[in-house]
Amino acid sequence: MRKKLIAGNWKMNNTPAEAKALINSALPLLKGAACDVAMCVPAVDLAIASELLSGSGVMLGAQNMHWASAGAYTGELSAAMLLAVGASCVILGHSERRQYFAETDETVGKKTRAALAAGLLPVVCVGELKEERLGGQTDKVVTRQTRVALDGLTSEQTISLVVAYEPVWAIGTGLVATDEQANETIGVIRSVIKDMFGESTANAVRILYGGSMNAANAAGLLAQPEIDGGLIGGASLKANDFAAIVKAAS
Ligand code: PGA
Repeated sequence: MRKKLIAGNWKMNNTPAEAKALINSALPLLKGAACDVAMCVPAVDLAIASELLSGSGVMLGAQNMHWASAGAYTGELSAAMLLAVGASCVILGHSERRQYFAETDETVGKKTRAALAAGLLPVVCVGELKEERLGGQTDKVVTRQTRVALDGLTSEQTISLVVAYEPVWAIGTGLVATDEQANETIGVIRSVIKDMFGESTANAVRILYGGSMNAANAAGLLAQPEIDGGLIGGASLKANDFAAIVKAAS
């Protein structure tokens, strides 16, 4: 049985003061959650979030990192820096980073290997564009993204990461994938992992769905056999909505 994970992705929202208010209103609602819960916050919120989440059982995550351990990379953060401020997970290769910040399958792979080597839990994002789905390319795209991101890993490392399937056309659009579409494509990703690392690894890896998941549609998505949780954008910014999704997964 894979334990479900609900991870909030705040994106570029919330100052430290706003982060404090949101965490303080969410934490009481998250008590007794029977799934894993994470909040992936902007870098400037990591310190305050770490303080507030300490001892709560909610994991703290970042939204990006560099693959190098240190050096002349203006504006970047290393895995060691994220760990030092209390993060235990990190979103890698989100489609917004691929789209606006030129991240490639190869850089996502480098980051994944660096995060695992440092002891962070990577949440590796894959997903097709609308044109790719309409053109029947979905399986091909997620297969390529998964293969390159996980290239060179051991089975043990693969079990210690999370994949998030986020169809780009469903992110922030209110256009959620149907339960069946999400389940089917996550099944494809799992079969790629099976091909690369064998059946027991594929059965152990958690694969989340992300893209307009909310309090109303979460239960249906989370009831699908392949879907091991959610990466939640918009709905993670409201304590009640986020808590309702966590409840649906518990
Ligand atoms: P959304 O974002 O829930 O707002 O669609 C999900 C994500 O991008 O991780």
